[in-house]
Order: sequence, then C-alpha cells, then structure tokens
Amino acid sequence: MNKLRVGVIGLGIGRSHIRGFQSHPSAEVVAIADLDEARLKASGDEFKIANRYRDAQEMLTKEALDIVSVCTPNKFHKPLTLAAFQAGCHVVCEKPMAMNTAEGRAMLAGARKAGKRLMINFSYRFLPQSRAIKAQVDAGALGDIYFARTMWLRRRYLPGLGGWFSRKELSGGGPIIDLGVHRLDLALWWMGYPRPVWVLASTYNAIGSRIAKENGAKFDVEDFGVALIKFENGATLELEASWTSHIAEQELMETRLFGTRGGAVQRNLGEGYRFEAELFVEKNGAHYDMKLHHPPGPEIPNQYQHFIDSIVRDQPHIATGEEGLVVMELLDAIYESAASGKPVPIKP
Ligand SMILES: NC(=O)c1ccc[n+]([C@@H]2O[C@H](COP(=O)([O-])OP(=O)(O)OC[C@H]3O[C@@H](n4cnc5c(N)ncnc54)[C@H](O)[C@@H]3O)[C@@H](O)[C@H]2O)c1
Repeated sequence: MNKLRVGVIGLGIGRSHIRGFQSHPSAEVVAIADLDEARLKASGDEFKIANRYRDAQEMLTKEALDIVSVCTPNKFHKPLTLAAFQAGCHVVCEKPMAMNTAEGRAMLAGARKAGKRLMINFSYRFLPQSRAIKAQVDAGALGDIYFARTMWLRRRYLPGLGGWFSRKELSGGGPIIDLGVHRLDLALWWMGYPRPVWVLASTYNAIGSRIAKENGAKFDVEDFGVALIKFENGATLELEASWTSHIAEQELMETRLFGTRGGAVQRNLGEGYRFEAELFVEKNGAHYDMKLHHPPGPEIPNQYQHFIDSIVRDQPHIATGEEGLVVMELLDAIYESAASGKPVPIKP
C-alpha cells in the first residue's frame, strides 16, 4: 500500500505532529507550511522534508495530500481546515477546534460534505494514565459518575506575552480556551460525553493584565476562569484554568471523578508533564487505593499513529470533530456566562 501523504501547517506544536506521523510506517510527511521562513527552514532541515511552503493553500493545491495537520493560531483553524477538506484531505486540527461554535459547525459541515475525517488534537487522552482510567470507567469500576473536578492551573506563565495567545481576536480567549479545553475534554470523555444543559462561569484577569501593562504588551483575555456545568443525566462538572494565580504550584493538572462505586484521580507529578492515576474503591467495608499502571502489551499508539491506524483499518477514531464541537459550545457558554454574570442554557 502507498504511504499516506501528510502535510503540516504551522511549525510550533506542528513539529510534534511531524514527529508523530513520522513514527508510523504507513505515513510520510511530504510537505510543511509556515509563514515564517526561519521556522520552515529549521523544521525542513531537521525532519528532512524538501517541500516547503510559505503559502498553505499552494501546498494544498500542489501536493496531493491525504492528511493535513492544522497547527496555527486558533483564528486560522477554520479557514485552513475547510481548505484542506476542499483539497480532499483528512484533517487533524489542533485544540481548541475553533474560535467559537459557529466556526466549529462550519468545520464539521465541511468534513461531512467532503466525506473526510476530522480529529481534534486532544492530546492528553493519549497518555497511558488517561487510557487506563477510561478502561476502568468503561468496565464499570466507578459506577455512575455524578461529579468531576478538572483543572489546569499555573502560577505564572503568560504564553508569548503580547502575542496571539493573549489577543482575543486571534485566540478566542485565555487559559479557559487554551488549557481548560484539554481538561474539559478529558473529564467529558471519561464521563461519556453527557449532554450539557447549563453553565455558570466567572473569568478574571487582574494579574495577567497587570503583568502585561508592566511589559507594554497587549492582553485582552482572562488569566483565570472557573465554570460549573450541569448535565442532562444529573451529573455536575467543575472546571478551573489559569495562566497566573497565587498558588504554590507552577503547574497543576488534576482531574477527579466521583462515582457511585468508585473514584479516580489523574494528576501531574512534580509540577511537570509526567502523570499518575489512582482508583479509589470500597470492598466489604474496607477502602482501597489502587495505582493504575501502563497496561502490559504493545505501546499505546499516540494520536498520530491512532489516526493513521483508523484510516488504514477503516475504523472510527477518537477525539472526533463532534466532540470538539460540544467542547466549543461549552467554551462559548462559559464566556457568555462570565460576561453576563448569569447561568447560560445549552440548547439541545
Ligand atoms: N495539543 C497541545 O498540547 C498543544 C500544545 C501547544 C499548542 N497547541 C495549539 O496549537 C496551535 C498552535 O500553537 P503553537 O504553540 O504552535 O503556536 P506558535 O505561535 O508557536 O506557532 C504557530 C505557527 O503557525 C504559523 N502560522 C500562522 N498562520 C499561518 C498560516 N496562515 N499559514 C501557515 N502558517 C501559519 C506561525 O508562523 C507559527 O510558526 C494553537 O491552536 C494551540 O492552541 C496545542
């Protein structure tokens, strides 16, 4: 079988996409695109990719690609994803799916019209500790999950201060849409993506805007956000996300699940990017804590390998555009509730 031809647009986190696709024997990264000439040269040389484009549309027109990764600032996710569908490609789009729900809907419609796949890079699902919790939930170890608390909090880290992350017109928002989006998807995935019915949220930006002002930088997004989400099945989810806050940890990622038969937690270790997961159950009146380990057997595929496998085997992939859209609806409702100070219903 011919290898699937992959093109990557945007060479920040896009470099991880190149590495991920290059790790699958059935894929070949044949072309890259970035507005930034220096990044094009650096990635092209490092990953030995000859076809380099300043103009992503030119790459789509010339390269007969099968798969495109969209790894640009959020504002360009929708137009580039739609252009990739029009060029007959499957798409892996970075998170958040888009700037808002309307854009997300247009992307899904584009996928359906083209008959192509859309995966959102909810990368934290692919950690062994995330897959292990999902397996326990699916096996019924937690019973019904009625509450979850999910967070990604930083003490001080304003990404690219003054750059696109902190400008609403390019990013759509601050840590809620940047970091919260990951922890939100993870909790929803474990909970079985129940249908949300309303959202109550607040956002703040005292610390971030002070730091930005001191540095003469633009900053018009939140630096902290909190939301309470109620679901049709009666469950509740609490989300917290910050780039700056007065906490002990530089980086704190944690999601707790509260179920009728058991509970679980996944959290980062040492304020870094290694994780642990634990399960809490009760048996014959005694309480047990169990550490979840990487399941034995072959390595769990990363998201890029999973996407290729799904295409080659004609099987469904996870982290779908449909799930990305539910997340977008929640993000929109969070910002709307924070602005109005009122709960926001989610329409069925
Ligand atoms: N899944 C994750 O864990 C993860 C991690 C980091 C970033 N992200 C997401 O990835 C996306 C990119 O973030 P980043 O940190 O790599 O940003 P970045 O600013 O480092 O890189 C973005 C690149 O896109 C290029 N670009 C912008 N517009 C373009 C266009 N129209 N055509 C071609 N290239 C264009 C820029 O020149 C830049 O090199 C964002 O949506 C972000 O939320 C996801």
